Amino acid sequence: MPAPWWQSAVIYQIYPRSFADANGDGIGDLPGVTSKVPYLADVLGVDAIWLSPFYPSPQKDFGYDVADHADIAPEYGTLDDFDALMATCSEHGLRVIVDFVPNHTSDQHRWFLESRASRSAGKRDWYVWADRAPDGGPPSNWLSVFGGSAWEWDAETGQYYLHSFLTSQPDLNWRNPEVRAAQHDVLRFWLDRGVSGFRIDVAHFIAKDPEMRDNPAAIADDGDGWFKELGAYDAQSHLYDKGHPDVHGFFRELRKVFDDYPDTYSIGEIHEDDPRAWVSYLGAQGDELHQVFDFSLLYAPWDASALRELLDRQEAILPEGAWPNHVLGNHDEPRFAFRRGADAARIGAMLLLTSRGTPTLYYGDELGMTQPVIPPEDQLDPWGRAGEVVGRDGCRTPMQWDGSVHGGFSAPGTASTWLPVHPDHVTRNVATQLSDEDSILNLHRRLLAARKASPALQLGDYLPLDGLPDGVLGWERISGDDRRVVLLNLATRYEFVDGVHGTIEVATTVHREHERVTGRLLLAAHEGVVVRPA
Ligand code: GLC
Ligand code: CA
Repeated sequence: MPAPWWQSAVIYQIYPRSFADANGDGIGDLPGVTSKVPYLADVLGVDAIWLSPFYPSPQKDFGYDVADHADIAPEYGTLDDFDALMATCSEHGLRVIVDFVPNHTSDQHRWFLESRASRSAGKRDWYVWADRAPDGGPPSNWLSVFGGSAWEWDAETGQYYLHSFLTSQPDLNWRNPEVRAAQHDVLRFWLDRGVSGFRIDVAHFIAKDPEMRDNPAAIADDGDGWFKELGAYDAQSHLYDKGHPDVHGFFRELRKVFDDYPDTYSIGEIHEDDPRAWVSYLGAQGDELHQVFDFSLLYAPWDASALRELLDRQEAILPEGAWPNHVLGNHDEPRFAFRRGADAARIGAMLLLTSRGTPTLYYGDELGMTQPVIPPEDQLDPWGRAGEVVGRDGCRTPMQWDGSVHGGFSAPGTASTWLPVHPDHVTRNVATQLSDEDSILNLHRRLLAARKASPALQLGDYLPLDGLPDGVLGWERISGDDRRVVLLNLATRYEFVDGVHGTIEVATTVHREHERVTGRLLLAAHEGVVVRPA
């Protein structure tokens, strides 16, 4: 049996609002994405795109507050535009994955408007409603990820509703079979339009404790103050407000819908530190989600021994038949190059695209895009405005296509873009980097091409290399006769690696490519190479 397409694929995440603005209103749109398909498929060489939500929405959480699951937000286009995008993608052999937001809707969704109309409304039980606690307060101590109680009082009907995120994002009640059936129809709607799969937003949130018990404290307050720094949300152990075991039944039902359409792929956004809980979402029989995002590279200490440990650990915890995945950035996290710097961005690209697993590349990371610092009061992101975190506007600034006034994201005559284009677009952009052989964009292109040409890099086994100098991380990928050795010097000094024989196929420093290595390989600081063994 050949491996499923998504195991050898490279997925590229597009934040539609920020990718390309075709009609000059300063907001990215679907025709904009369509115009860039040749770049994605033929210039860069990725295999699939994942589109963050483009559905009608009040945009309180920039699309993760869905007001209609089966349409396109007017600022992004129409269903015809979506079909045109699908057609262009299919001409270029690019698959499309869409974002499925199961846990909540916008409070403007017709389901919620009907649910909140009265206690006896037909859809009352489609959301999570509860009476006051005996003390008159909210039904439990559950907190919103975005701050404050997860319960909002509805004076009209005299009950609270649950919102794990914004008050304008009420949680659906997945225990209601009508809700599940309606959500399955949403999946079918997009599958019928030709999508190849779904990224599932906060997937494990859909099952909560039916008794709505209080979450216990994460750790006792020992009075030394660090407990406070945790922030209220992290100070709770989230035993009861997400990840209830019933979630597995819900996922098995989703999987049946997926399996009705050949080759469908699903990947869940599940932030879960406990490895056993994490793998459980793949299903005991491999009958739930195809993959669960592995966010560990985002937070790992950036040194050879920590990364080695992390990659080995992932291999160890994955059950038989499961396939790893890697990610260095997304629309919720500060940009990789911003956090780690330009050198790490290049070596990170090599790690992402040559380790065993499905990589997801965040738009703009192929340029080493960083991010401007935006003060909380100027942020549009509700989380950023709350001031608790860096905020997410910074990682969502417009894609930098060229050096023109709006970076080629919007036409030069456009009044302004929805978020500022990073000032460094004058030099850091697709056009400039394409003409610079040593750019990080061309490094990505060479890595993607090498990957496509090598069964070992796509689907081969992972064999970590022992006995390397301290700062160097290395492994071999093997598929039959095809082999590649990857060596990454994460140290800030040069290192020698002995016993290497072959030709450098890709290097973070382009001048080293095609070099023959006969025994001793010198790696400059922050240099990484893919060697084709002799
Ligand atoms: C996920 C999304 C994030 C969104 C949240 C609520 O974490 O990635 O952008 O704010 O869910 O839907
Ligand atoms: Ca637009």
